[in-house]
Amino acid sequence: MSEKAILQLEENSYELPVVIGTEAEKAIDISKLRDVSGYITLDSGYKNTGAVQSAITFLDGEKGILKYRGYSIEELAEKSTFIEVAYLLVYGNLPNKDQLNAFLYQISRHTLIHEDMKKFFDGFPSKSHPMGQLSSLVCSLSAFYPESLHPHPTVEELDLTIIKLLAKMTTIVSWIYKKSLGHPIIYPQNKLNYVANFLNMTFGQRTEEVLIDPVVVSAMDKLLILHADHEQNCSTSTVRIVGSSECNLYSSVSAGISALWGPLHGGANQAVIEMLEQIKIGGGSAEKWINKAKDKNDPFRLMGFGHRVYKNFDPRAKIIKKACDDVLTKLGVNDPILEMAKNLEELALNDSYFVERKLYPNVDFYSGIIYRALGFPTDMFPVLFALGRLPGWIAQWKEMREQKEPIGRPRQVYIGHTDRTYVPIAVR
Ligand code: CMC
Repeated sequence: MSEKAILQLEENSYELPVVIGTEAEKAIDISKLRDVSGYITLDSGYKNTGAVQSAITFLDGEKGILKYRGYSIEELAEKSTFIEVAYLLVYGNLPNKDQLNAFLYQISRHTLIHEDMKKFFDGFPSKSHPMGQLSSLVCSLSAFYPESLHPHPTVEELDLTIIKLLAKMTTIVSWIYKKSLGHPIIYPQNKLNYVANFLNMTFGQRTEEVLIDPVVVSAMDKLLILHADHEQNCSTSTVRIVGSSECNLYSSVSAGISALWGPLHGGANQAVIEMLEQIKIGGGSAEKWINKAKDKNDPFRLMGFGHRVYKNFDPRAKIIKKACDDVLTKLGVNDPILEMAKNLEELALNDSYFVERKLYPNVDFYSGIIYRALGFPTDMFPVLFALGRLPGWIAQWKEMREQKEPIGRPRQVYIGHTDRTYVPIAVR
């Protein structure tokens, strides 16, 4: 017999269906509760609310498990490539050789962006944040490819939009960087793979010779895999909710980029490095910052620490910490910030404030140190997070549309004034 929940409200009791996921996660389906009882549920920040049933990513915050489509993040990070993972997330299975080649070929045919888009780069002030530029430029793709506006695209039409978005994102991101330096842009080269092409457009010179170090390509690939999806986080929920109005994929992803920008989400990687820099300037003692983070009168939080779902460890952080050591060693980079980060982590993990609240380093704590070693400036870090998260956003948007989910529209409990009578300004 299927499980049910009984809810007692005043004199009445209601039977509510229980939904059980494939990993035995349980939820009480309250979708009809208001119709039968007049009550809604209230859950600020959706801390305990499931908004969707999804087959893309599973994570168990207590056990520190993260899987994409059933494959563990540890195995994918070690054995696969970002493009394979992108295919897996978007289409549900790992590609075979022909599927992968066709996918790569399609992407390589669409990396150019419309020449008119270059005018946008010229219009942005030179110091404007790359995330603001990225969000605007991705949204503007809907203007250059208006066929994407169709609210009910065919499978072929949607596939083409997906390919274009994956392909053009690398060009947009690297050109944002080149423009910030005032350097000439570098056009994509179809013969390079996805990550190498991106790095070449970002760091290459205007030469036929490819100057990309395989160590850098492999580190970047791993970082992108680790960021590729993370179920219903702030930016992904944003993408799904914007898309639920039948808004096009480009604009929905642009909204996701804006949601990711904040320092509590994808902007944390930039904030971590800025915090570590401050610690360095202050003589290297992390205690002041630990105390600041613990002080309830101070809004400061230890950046790169804590997670809404992970309450034991963040498996991505574990992989990144090791990759950080490896990459810095292989590149011969000696960054004192890495030692500072390790000391800060040790202090926090031995402090009762952080222990009691189950606050551990998250994905953003060490990722910035690798990005820095690869040569990226700090304000590009959230953009790199967005590049990695792109396949996840696409997969979640596609699933939402395929499942024909209704438009997202939460309820509220109104706590404002009740009836008031208008008073003319002269007597107010
Ligand atoms: N430093 C100090 N205290 C913290 C921190 C922190 N980084 N994170 C949480 N707390 C405290 C918080 O003050 C609260 O204490 P109390 O119970 O005494 O009021 C308790 O821990 C629970 O925090 P919360 O705000 O209820 O937790 P949340 O699930 O709403 O927030 C978070 C999760 C990630 C926004 C938060 O941990 C945070 O602000 N961390 C710093 C920013 C950061 O690193 N963000 C990147 C997240 S991982 C990348 C991604 O996927 O977005």
